[in-house]
Amino acid sequence: MGIRVRKPYVVAERGSHRFVWLGLDEAEAERGVLTNQYMVIDSDEAMLLDPGGHYVFERVYRNVTSFVDPSRVRAVFFTHQDPDVVGSLVLVHEFFPNARIYVSKLWTRFLPHLGVSSDLDIVEVPDEGGEIPLGGSSLLAIPAHFLHSPGNFTLYDPLTKVLFSGDIGAAVFPKGVWYLFAEDFDKHAELMRPFHERYLACREALEAWLSIVERLDIEVIAPQHGAIMVGDSARRFLEWLRSLNKFGIDVVREVARRWTSS
Ligand SMILES: [Fe+2]
Ligand SMILES: [Fe+2]
Repeated sequence: MGIRVRKPYVVAERGSHRFVWLGLDEAEAERGVLTNQYMVIDSDEAMLLDPGGHYVFERVYRNVTSFVDPSRVRAVFFTHQDPDVVGSLVLVHEFFPNARIYVSKLWTRFLPHLGVSSDLDIVEVPDEGGEIPLGGSSLLAIPAHFLHSPGNFTLYDPLTKVLFSGDIGAAVFPKGVWYLFAEDFDKHAELMRPFHERYLACREALEAWLSIVERLDIEVIAPQHGAIMVGDSARRFLEWLRSLNKFGIDVVREVARRWTSS
């Protein structure tokens, strides 16, 4: 069976406002963890969400420009600082020169190490998050610190009711398996579990994020890895998070115990 190239897909839309998944080449799994990129379009302006690593940029660029002219990409939202999120920044800056970069204030000083020129337009997102304008709309940067990064945000689009959840909701597919939407939630949850039990710092961080997102009207949860959860799956995902009882902090305690018990 050949490697499949998946075309971009409009996940949700309201009038001309659209939330788009930016396609995939399944061969990318041979180089690193598979990643999802998304784009929000409003009034002929576009925002890229976690545009991703260096080697996915060609596919991302091709699919973005099948919807909008590169000059119309006015914003890039980074959930956090990982290579699979920011690794293409030099290319993003070169090919989308009008894009303003939104990233946690914790990471702005680190991004220049990617080699990007000093005219990069960076907006520091404060710990409390806030609104990010796009065209005639605005999106909400929701704090998700320590889930997993210490300066971490998710992004809510009130018009389409999509929550871009970054690494929260990440699933790692076994070789040969891929799907865009999580239809069998119970089965899909087992592909999410190992990541969440190791990378999310602790229950307190998770509860804080849940207390915010549970006040939002969410129809779709779109993560940076794995599958998109819609309707009932999205609701079940939030419940499933509450049921987790292992976190990164447990690993910290366990390794300290091993080093100190003798
Ligand atoms: Fe990450
Ligand atoms: Fe990631």
